[in-house]
Amino acid sequence: MSAGPFDVRRIAIEVARPLRVTVLRADMPGDPAIFAGDDEPETAHFGAFKADALVGVVTAMHHPRPGAGAEGWQLRGMATLPTVRGEGHGAALIRAAEAFVREHGGRIAWFNARRAAEGFYAHMGYTTVSEEFDVPGIGPHVVMEKQIAG
Ligand SMILES: CC(C)(COP(=O)(O)OP(=O)(O)OC[C@H]1O[C@@H](n2cnc3c(N)ncnc32)[C@H](O)[C@@H]1OP(=O)(O)O)[C@@H](O)C(=O)NCCC(=O)NCCS
Repeated sequence: MSAGPFDVRRIAIEVARPLRVTVLRADMPGDPAIFAGDDEPETAHFGAFKADALVGVVTAMHHPRPGAGAEGWQLRGMATLPTVRGEGHGAALIRAAEAFVREHGGRIAWFNARRAAEGFYAHMGYTTVSEEFDVPGIGPHVVMEKQIAG
């Protein structure tokens, strides 16, 4: 799959996980960054490549948001390497995940967003729909979502 000038491809979880660990679990040595749902048949992992090197990942899972409609899909493990931030790989990954969800009948994409990334997601059209809550060991989060199909 190609998103404009960006090279985003579906990848195996074994390919996604090391980058997840490096970026999202850097302060949690020993955490393998295994998420419930990683191996479910409907789950899709995406990688962003720059000159054929993996520089970013995101995962889409068919997990409705608790208390919300059944058409919700959860995005997880969104991460790009610090050396490529601001180049558009994060946005390309979100667009690829949204396209996948839409193709599979999902209408809402949602996630638990780190407060530090809230501006990025707002830029991508997501709305904050919860109060702030703490994820132990990681920090403050909010739930964000976006209607991606009618
Ligand atoms: C959040 C993250 C995925 C963004 O990735 P990225 O590769 O920098 O994203 P992009 O380059 O595609 O940025 C897309 C747009 O969002 C903007 N943006 C990026 N990070 C932003 C932030 N934290 N706040 C506000 N805007 C931001 C960019 O400037 C860019 O704007 P433009 O379209 O006007 O140029 C990346 O910073 C990251 O991996 N952070 C650490 C891990 C993390 O917090 N992951 C999210 C867990 S919930």
